[in-house]
Amino acid sequence: MEIRSKRLLLRAWRRGDEIALVRHGNSHAVWRNLTDRFPHPYTRKDAVTWIRRVKEQGEPPRSFAIVFEDEPVGGVGFERMQDLNRLTAEFGYWVSEAYWGRGFATEAALAATAHAFAHFDFERLQASVLEWNEPSRRVLEKVGFTLEGRLRKNCVKEGRVVDSFIYGLLRHEVQARS
Ligand SMILES: CC(C)(COP(=O)(O)OP(=O)(O)OC[C@H]1O[C@@H](n2cnc3c(N)ncnc32)[C@H](O)[C@@H]1OP(=O)(O)O)[C@@H](O)C(=O)NCCC(=O)NCCS
Repeated sequence: MEIRSKRLLLRAWRRGDEIALVRHGNSHAVWRNLTDRFPHPYTRKDAVTWIRRVKEQGEPPRSFAIVFEDEPVGGVGFERMQDLNRLTAEFGYWVSEAYWGRGFATEAALAATAHAFAHFDFERLQASVLEWNEPSRRVLEKVGFTLEGRLRKNCVKEGRVVDSFIYGLLRHEVQARS
């Protein structure tokens, strides 16, 4: 499955994406804003493992490469939470530093959130943002997420205990958006 937006293509990660994944994903500036499950340094082996893992996720896809001019330059995806939170998915994204500030994350997140509600039974998407990540907060606001709280000392990143912001987007809010 592929999703086209104005400038971007969102498609499943596939073999052959390893070089681009390392080129754009091997970035301290990207990593410091993501969960520690995103490796740093980002090696070819990490890219191979990632592509193998997302292939096993089945259809419809929930992890997409953000492709610009035929090259994967970032990723966007969501993951179902469990138990009482099973109708919620954690939403996340990253864009290569080389393309920051061009609206790519916003464009990709708009498309991916619409896809998530169209093809899954989620009632809610949520995103956690580390306290210093103003650009990501801005992206979420542009996509229609609501700031729901500041979780004090909720995260540890790079050895620092920091706050995070929690944002939520509900199904009916996306329907109202379009
Ligand atoms: C966050 C990230 C995805 C944004 O990607 P992007 O393609 O540059 O985002 P966009 O261009 O769509 O939007 C960025 C917005 O942040 C704003 N911004 C940039 N730097 C900023 C700053 N220091 N303070 C406040 N706003 C800032 C931009 O002006 C833009 O808002 P605008 O359209 O109102 O002007 C990218 O920086 C990234 O991959 N960071 C590392 C990974 C990450 O943070 N992922 C999200 C985890 S929650």
